[in-house]
Amino acid sequence: MTAHRRDADEKESRSANGADWDRYADEYQATHGEFLGDVGFLWGPEGLTEAEAGILGDVRDRDVLEVGSGAGQCSRWIRSQGGRAFGLDLSHRQLQHSRRIDEMSGVTVPSVRGTATHLPFADDSFDIVFSSFGALQFVADIDRAVAETARVLRPGGRYAFSITHPTRWMFPDDPTTEGLTASQSYWDRTPYVEVDDETGTTSYVEHHRTLGDWVALLAGHGFRLTTLLEPEWPADHERLWGGWSRERGVLTPGTAIFGSDLWSRVD
Ligand SMILES: C[S@@+](CC[C@H](N)C(=O)[O-])C[C@H]1O[C@@H](n2cnc3c(N)ncnc32)[C@H](O)[C@@H]1O
Repeated sequence: MTAHRRDADEKESRSANGADWDRYADEYQATHGEFLGDVGFLWGPEGLTEAEAGILGDVRDRDVLEVGSGAGQCSRWIRSQGGRAFGLDLSHRQLQHSRRIDEMSGVTVPSVRGTATHLPFADDSFDIVFSSFGALQFVADIDRAVAETARVLRPGGRYAFSITHPTRWMFPDDPTTEGLTASQSYWDRTPYVEVDDETGTTSYVEHHRTLGDWVALLAGHGFRLTTLLEPEWPADHERLWGGWSRERGVLTPGTAIFGSDLWSRVD
């Protein structure tokens, strides 16, 4: 595999990342499934739960869509709290894990295969749309993804999502002290692209937006930003998750969680 910094459009990003999540899903669920909890809502590797954070508000009797739902752990927690949560994910294999856990846990999340930029739902279908590290960093056409979210939300609906904290883009994705020295520009939005050396195909794409980009995106689609949480590394938390570790986590934020309300429809 060779890593590049170069442009990657929506089509290339989607076909690379769908296949990547299909390949990675078994290992991902084996490594992180227990920490996530079959019926559990974590906002990120720091372990902050929705029960603690309350970013979505009361979910009881609400119609809820999770974009990039993976194995549906968060949506299953919402179902356990009385919300009608539905999942959408690009990866067939992730959705197979979701079905497996539905059956094991007895809490079913009706889910569909799809992509964040083309939500297969009518206008005004949901009270809440959210993503916990789902989809957004893998999407090139983020403007379209946020517009789709606004379209399927009812007026006044809630939109919340967690992503890798944008400041992490400056650092190598390394959980040790090596990952604490800034080596590239925070403002360089050129995507990170991995190419399979044997086949020449693009195997992974990640996109970056600054904090200011996210504020402009939300405001530009009629959302009022109410929350930006940057969870601190908990005192008793030793878990390593990719580039997230205690070593880095006590010094720099690893996760950003945005919460917003749809206050006007922008066409
Ligand atoms: C890190 S997982 C997050 C899932 C779940 N919240 C969790 O914590 O395990 C990212 C998910 O986003 C999905 N994804 C990637 N690109 C997507 C897209 N364009 N549309 C919808 N889902 C996408 C992946 O298939 C994967 O299941």
